[in-house]
Amino acid sequence: MGRGSACGSSRISGPRAGGYAELAVRDVDALHPIPDGLADDAAVAMIGTGRTTMGVLETARLTSDDVVLITSAAGGVGSLLVQAARRAGATVVGVAGGAAKVEHVRGLGATVAVDYTAAGWADEVRSALADQPVTTVFDMIGGEHGRTALELLRRGGRALVLGWSSGRPTTVGGADVVGRGITVAPAFAPELLRRGVRVLEERALTAAARGELTPVVSATFPLARAADAHQALESRATIGKVVLKP
Ligand SMILES: NC(=O)c1ccc[n+]([C@@H]2O[C@H](COP(=O)([O-])OP(=O)(O)OC[C@H]3O[C@@H](n4cnc5c(N)ncnc54)[C@H](OP(=O)(O)O)[C@@H]3O)[C@@H](O)[C@H]2O)c1
Repeated sequence: MGRGSACGSSRISGPRAGGYAELAVRDVDALHPIPDGLADDAAVAMIGTGRTTMGVLETARLTSDDVVLITSAAGGVGSLLVQAARRAGATVVGVAGGAAKVEHVRGLGATVAVDYTAAGWADEVRSALADQPVTTVFDMIGGEHGRTALELLRRGGRALVLGWSSGRPTTVGGADVVGRGITVAPAFAPELLRRGVRVLEERALTAAARGELTPVVSATFPLARAADAHQALESRATIGKVVLKP
């Protein structure tokens, strides 16, 4: 892709989803012109990861009253969510694995950044927030850390679930829903999928072109080294988005 060229969305599901090809055939109306001033890598990041972020933000409708806890906050989606939540005026707690990622999350503007590979990270969050209760959790990691994040939610709070990169979804029980009044919902609301994602892609590209959101692309690999890219992701070594270049 170059200036005057276009990037295109893959379908969310179905036989044409995915990538890993030098060339692809797409419907013309699935293509987006790359806005002036936006690098190709950044545009690619805003199509997939940016689209997801826009959808999540539309579902969440954050305000300055929110205290938001973002897991995997240094990842592709997490890095955008931290920025967007701060722009919405929310208090942002970014949690991520390791000192470098925590530093990155702090640099993105998180009010509080905590390393969840350290024991007792929940107490660190409570202490940093003083008496402010967490209103919203963006759960991207699942497993033990997802559960801890859920326990940090105030009564009546909401957990918006994007996935579980730890390999296990967060365990949620009746006591969370009935006893604590917690709402657990998909971050990408079904009505967004019904409406189609193109509008979210356009919004994501525009936000990046205007400098409202900065996609973080910390690693690029040639397509021939896709396996190395996966290795980097699996080892949790990456920050932000990883882009393959054909
Ligand atoms: N990108 C999208 O368009 C999209 C769409 C829908 C849903 N999602 C979901 O949103 C979540 C984040 O996606 P993303 O694109 O931001 O992912 P990403 O950039 O690859 O970040 C994932 C993060 O998960 C953490 N992690 C914890 N355990 C891991 C493990 N065993 N292997 C690999 N990573 C692990 C790592 O952060 P730490 O080291 O800090 O824990 C890593 O940075 C995922 O659950 C994904 O399924 C993404």
